[in-house]
Amino acid sequence: MFNNRKIAEEFLPAEDIVLYPGDCLKLLHTIPEESLSLVITSPPYNIGKEYEKKLKLETYIEQQAAVIRECVRCLSPQGSICWQIGNYVDNGAIIPLDTLLYPIFTDLGLKMRNRIIWHFEHGLHCSRRFSGRYETIIWFTKTDKYTFNLDSVRVPQKYPGKKYFKGPNAGKYSCNPLGKNPGDLWVIPNVKCNHVEKTGHPCQFPVELIERFVLSLTNEGNWVFDPFLGTGTTIIAAIRHNRHGAGAETVEKYVHLARRRIEEEIAGTLRTRPMHKPVYDPEEAGNSLRIAPWKTKQEDKQLRLLENQARYTSK
Ligand SMILES: C[S@@+](CC[C@H](N)C(=O)[O-])C[C@H]1O[C@@H](n2cnc3c(N)ncnc32)[C@H](O)[C@@H]1O
Repeated sequence: MFNNRKIAEEFLPAEDIVLYPGDCLKLLHTIPEESLSLVITSPPYNIGKEYEKKLKLETYIEQQAAVIRECVRCLSPQGSICWQIGNYVDNGAIIPLDTLLYPIFTDLGLKMRNRIIWHFEHGLHCSRRFSGRYETIIWFTKTDKYTFNLDSVRVPQKYPGKKYFKGPNAGKYSCNPLGKNPGDLWVIPNVKCNHVEKTGHPCQFPVELIERFVLSLTNEGNWVFDPFLGTGTTIIAAIRHNRHGAGAETVEKYVHLARRRIEEEIAGTLRTRPMHKPVYDPEEAGNSLRIAPWKTKQEDKQLRLLENQARYTSK
């Protein structure tokens, strides 16, 4: 479908890939109405990362609302908009940003289809509350006639060999041979130091997370857009699945990083974690670091004895 993929800096429907080095609102103003099939992004969270200035919460929400309004204007009637977001932290108190953004989408007439929990295992260790190990992705559609290709993102069944044991279908397999619906709790490693996709950006999307949205919410040849592009992950996922990709990024070093990664993706040399790869299990992998050096073998035996006793006595 796409032979000679090129990166443009301005949006024109005839372009293939657009990497705009500047403010997303400026880019959005140049995008025709109803031309985007998927808007997917992770905006700044207003928590003082190196690429953002911490604002009063109301000002931040107003800024987000301006971007969301423009994205909705550019969204096609079959289109979807997905906002990946975490918590704002105010003096130790957490405020889940999706709860503050939700009314902006619904006031614009959008319908929420899922609030996906993205669970990962690595992050900051908190000492005065439980460490945060999930963020959310709120998915809205513009109309009821939205694109949803479930078959393209099904995941392996837990019991593929299970059959109906009675009724008219007795003896037939009871599950969908194409796999099961992935549900709304997604366990996908976040991009931390050991991740193959890690760059110098402090909070990249893993490509596999965006691939799932691109495949399920768009068709080949559609436009996928990310107003806060960062390292270009959204465009990479779009290219990989024969979609057009566009996005804006204000910080020059990230624009360069995004361009380099997009070029590598076009050349087929970008290394990414494959979709559906099981999460690394150190126990299954026999990782020796699983054994606590401060535990003696004797103590371990004693603990196991107690564990076994607990199992017997609870019956
Ligand atoms: C949370 S990061 C997104 C990371 C991205 N999901 C990725 O996979 O690399 C938000 C990005 O938005 C950029 N940004 C902040 N304000 C912006 C604006 N008004 N227009 C475009 N980009 C902006 C920041 O520099 C930052 O790289």
